[in-house]
Amino acid sequence: MTDRYAVIGNPIAHSKSPQIHAAFAKQTGEDMAYEALLAPLDGFENTVRNFIAAGGRGMNVTVPFKLDAWRIATTRSPRAEAAKAVNMLVFTPSGIHGDNTDGAGLIADLKHNLKMVLKDKRVLLLGAGGAARGVILPLLLEQPATLTVANRTTEKAHQLHAEFAQLTQDATNFSACGFKELAGQQFDVVINATSASLSDAAPEVPAGLCAPYGLAYDMMYGETLTPFLKAIQKESGPGQNTQLSDGLGMLIEQAAESFLLWRGVRPQTSPVLSVFRNT
Ligand code: ATR
Repeated sequence: MTDRYAVIGNPIAHSKSPQIHAAFAKQTGEDMAYEALLAPLDGFENTVRNFIAAGGRGMNVTVPFKLDAWRIATTRSPRAEAAKAVNMLVFTPSGIHGDNTDGAGLIADLKHNLKMVLKDKRVLLLGAGGAARGVILPLLLEQPATLTVANRTTEKAHQLHAEFAQLTQDATNFSACGFKELAGQQFDVVINATSASLSDAAPEVPAGLCAPYGLAYDMMYGETLTPFLKAIQKESGPGQNTQLSDGLGMLIEQAAESFLLWRGVRPQTSPVLSVFRNT
């Protein structure tokens, strides 16, 4: 029988995950089906249990259920535990295993697809929700010169900092602040991990944060430039040479990492990324 997988979220209709996993399955010859599942906002666990009962083998989890997925997992990987967010589940006879492949996906996209060396770079992470939580430790492991977490609600940035500083051996290059305190600072990499794009807005940060030849990266993606990338593009002149990237590469890389955990084989991402970039 064909193994069944799904991505679960709300909303979910526009998810590209089913097409990405179909492309991976074709490329690797794995016999599997992958669908999109819309769960009611108060019905995440029921939807998961029904899918398991129907023979489901695993799931990707997206907005707004990553914390719920962390809660229902009976075992969790260390990276999911640190993030307190789960973006993929593996269903086995002994229970539900939760993992978080978002951080690995972001780092793979930055390093391999965008050729960005993070070591000794000044990195700014905007946001202090689930999306930010998933990428802090993987970013610190790349040994940036500094990692600054900034959030609209300053207190949440400080809470996140306190929590993650405990998990790192050397937290001297790691700091947190509100948006206003960013004024006058410059960063080589600015990553938007806020959910502002969902309401068609850009986080209201001071202008000029991206250093010349810097990278502005939005973990969200869309048919057109996200509001955050549009705002950065608007403020950076031609001599600035700012590189802009949305999160499509991260989506494909985290999917490849999930596929590896489910199927034991890592699909090649670059051919899939080129197909999706051109459609
Ligand atoms: P996710 O799992 O996508 O990270 P979340 O946990 O609800 O979702 O967190 C949303 C994040 O986006 C928060 O950091 C939030 O900032 P606040 O803590 O101040 O609410 C941020 N966010 C959402 N809309 C935003 C906006 N319009 N401008 C700036 N930040 C925004």
